[in-house]
Amino acid sequence: MKRNIKNNVSWVGFIDWELENFHGDDYSIMNGSSQNAYLVEEEKTVLIDTVWKPHDEFFVENLKEEIDLDSIDYIIINHGEIDHSGSLPALMKEIPETPIYCTKNAVDSLKGQFHEDWKFNIVKTGDTLDIGNGKQLIFVEMPMLHWPDSMATYLTEDNILFSNDAFGQHFAVQELFNDKADQCLLEKEAIKYYANILAPFSPLVKRKIDEIVGLNLPIDIIAPSHGVIWRDNPLQIIQKYAEWADDYQEDQITIVYDTMWEATAKTAYLLAEEISQLSPDTVVKVFNCSKEDKNEIMTEVFKSKSIAVGSPTVGRTILSSVAGWLHFLDSLKFKNKKAAAFGTYGWSGESAKEIQDFLIDAGYDTVDSVAKVKWTVKDEDLEPIKTLAKDLVELSK
Ligand code: FEO
Repeated sequence: MKRNIKNNVSWVGFIDWELENFHGDDYSIMNGSSQNAYLVEEEKTVLIDTVWKPHDEFFVENLKEEIDLDSIDYIIINHGEIDHSGSLPALMKEIPETPIYCTKNAVDSLKGQFHEDWKFNIVKTGDTLDIGNGKQLIFVEMPMLHWPDSMATYLTEDNILFSNDAFGQHFAVQELFNDKADQCLLEKEAIKYYANILAPFSPLVKRKIDEIVGLNLPIDIIAPSHGVIWRDNPLQIIQKYAEWADDYQEDQITIVYDTMWEATAKTAYLLAEEISQLSPDTVVKVFNCSKEDKNEIMTEVFKSKSIAVGSPTVGRTILSSVAGWLHFLDSLKFKNKKAAAFGTYGWSGESAKEIQDFLIDAGYDTVDSVAKVKWTVKDEDLEPIKTLAKDLVELSK
């Protein structure tokens, strides 16, 4: 069933209450999600985006109940990733001659995925499409936010920015709008989405926000392709993105570790205690990276000014869980964060130094010392932990 957004604009998407993972298993979904598609019914009828393939039958049948599919004049595909384009093949079987407006890269993506040569119309930033009743669509390319093919579409007069993935969240809200959502969950899901999907492109986010603001287009509603539609103070999410893209950090230090026989866990807890004593106002959080959700941990790391990472030594290296986590950390390209490394060992003891080297290579400003604990934490082992805590707190000032 279509849901009115404003005037002749409706939501025709799919609320995915049961979704548990996204991007394969790389992104955890804790509070459902949605794939938002929109219908604009002016003199011309326009469909903006579709939904993921598992819901293509629902999507097409739902649309059929609302409108004659032949009445769709234009389809806008803001982004070719399959969660937004996956229902296109089912839809285009019904209306194969309907023109599709998208970026040049999106043509590559759609042809590559679906092997169809639909009637593509390539658009660039500033291109417009007249849809009657004095209204236009204006296209804004959003390359690498978060794919090379991404774009946003702006509807004049109604002042709605259909931003696709940007400003979205994986968050199911039946009532659709931001003012109807649980505000704590909304903020949590929005920053998790930014930290885990958009953070690597923060320099581009900054430039794109400047460009959108520079267009001086009034924005009454931001309608992304996932999660809530921002109608109450929609600029708040642009402001948040500007903050998050600007080397964001709070007064928080996050400790991440894995452990074999609890020595590294104990070291992590002692390090947390020491940091708290030295800097009582700092929020300190500790996570076992093989037990806690990696995307939730990354969100906490994104919020942090500093991190400490620890592993036991096994086979002259670090645990695979820590190695995998570090590579994920590196891929997110967080900036302006301090770091420290620690490790436990029985024999050769390479882990702390290996983590330190990785963090330095990944661009983290890393304290010179590492904390190494042999076998288990004893009174004489507290000194390197205290030193590491002191050095990290100092470096984090
Ligand atoms: Fe929501 Fe990049 O797809």
